[in-house]
Amino acid sequence: MTFVRTEPESDLRRKDHLTFKGNRSQGRHGWLRLTPAYSLHLVQDLVAGLSRQDVVLDPFCGTGTTALACSGQGIACDTVDLNPFLVWLASVKCAPYEEAELRHTRKFSRQAMAQELNGNDAWAPPIQDIHKWWSEPTLRALSALFARMTEEPASGARDLLHIAFCRTVIETAAVSFGHQSMSFRRADPQPMLFNESASEVVLGHFERAVADVLNTAVETPTGSARVFLGDSRNLDALLPPERYSAVITSPPYPNRMSYIRELRPYMYWLGYLTDGRQAGELDWKAIGGTWGCATSLVAKWEASPKILVPWKGFDACIQGIKEHSDLLGRYVHKYFEDAALHVASLVTILARGARVHYVVGNSKFYDVLLPTEEIYAAIFEAAGMGNVVVERIRKRTSKKELFEFIVHATKP
Ligand SMILES: C[S@@+](CC[C@H](N)C(=O)[O-])C[C@H]1O[C@@H](n2cnc3c(N)ncnc32)[C@H](O)[C@@H]1O
Repeated sequence: MTFVRTEPESDLRRKDHLTFKGNRSQGRHGWLRLTPAYSLHLVQDLVAGLSRQDVVLDPFCGTGTTALACSGQGIACDTVDLNPFLVWLASVKCAPYEEAELRHTRKFSRQAMAQELNGNDAWAPPIQDIHKWWSEPTLRALSALFARMTEEPASGARDLLHIAFCRTVIETAAVSFGHQSMSFRRADPQPMLFNESASEVVLGHFERAVADVLNTAVETPTGSARVFLGDSRNLDALLPPERYSAVITSPPYPNRMSYIRELRPYMYWLGYLTDGRQAGELDWKAIGGTWGCATSLVAKWEASPKILVPWKGFDACIQGIKEHSDLLGRYVHKYFEDAALHVASLVTILARGARVHYVVGNSKFYDVLLPTEEIYAAIFEAAGMGNVVVERIRKRTSKKELFEFIVHATKP
């Protein structure tokens, strides 16, 4: 394994263009702001090294950054996620839209603006502590707007309206986005201008979101993107053998961040979640999942004697973490067991000569530094991949030892 540090440490501090923050004004990439998205610039640099003959895979789709970046360059890309909301989001971001669908979306928005939103008896999602998210008047206005959308038949236009609605939902919620995840601000969040009503505030956000979405929906991506609902620990059951010539991806990091936590508002409004138990069960299926009931399931989880994590310091690392917290030791062990299962299934669907690029972050638990990049490198080598290179790309904002890396490897 080769270790490359691309830049002096001081230059690695806070490169916002290498995170989701750089994606906001990037056409369709900016449709819905989500913390787990990785940098478009980074992906574009990696995609620039490919040709139209390449077939790309992103086994951890998230918001579909890789698929959309490939589509923009006319490169075919398949992508997989086990979260059905993200599968929908990525499909909608990569889809072509007909003129009639764009016209219909615009017309719906114009008609919505013409009527006050009065949703006294309209449905609201069964999300716990809903008033932590939205004040009662804002919630009623959102519910009324959503009720109008449920009358729309399934179509590209309805998908675009749902994207604009998701934007409105989050822009009117009492949440702030810190460096790593989302936090609540205060119970009654809406700064209303003078006598502006909740209906006017919600409609204002919605109108701007529709305009923004329509601006970029008009450009048709040229590459074919296919988005699959599935588990990246069993890729061989989902995708054809020896097909992919490149992988550009960012798996979850072993840092206990829950994707479901941040996605909950969208998932409840659009019907992908109907109770808290489901959120925990979905997170339990995710690599590194730790939300709700996933935590108690991790506490009972036992390592499999058949799956070895091939990095030499692994057992000592897990023991070191377990001395402070048995739960966290099990969490990290499970994370890398899942990563090893994923890589074992990945190699079977890679073509000879395929180059993989994994954007990963290291973590620290108590005084134990977890070199995620080295462990992935060791897993790739043990799975028969060659030419493994670890490239350090960015200092993260949190603790001082935390960095982001790209682990590159080639299938012989
Ligand atoms: C770091 S995010 C990917 C972010 C993505 N690169 C983007 O730009 O939005 C990791 C993703 O992996 C997904 N994931 C976790 N475990 C998975 C599994 N076993 N199979 C498929 N997807 C999984 C999560 O749902 C999450 O969307």
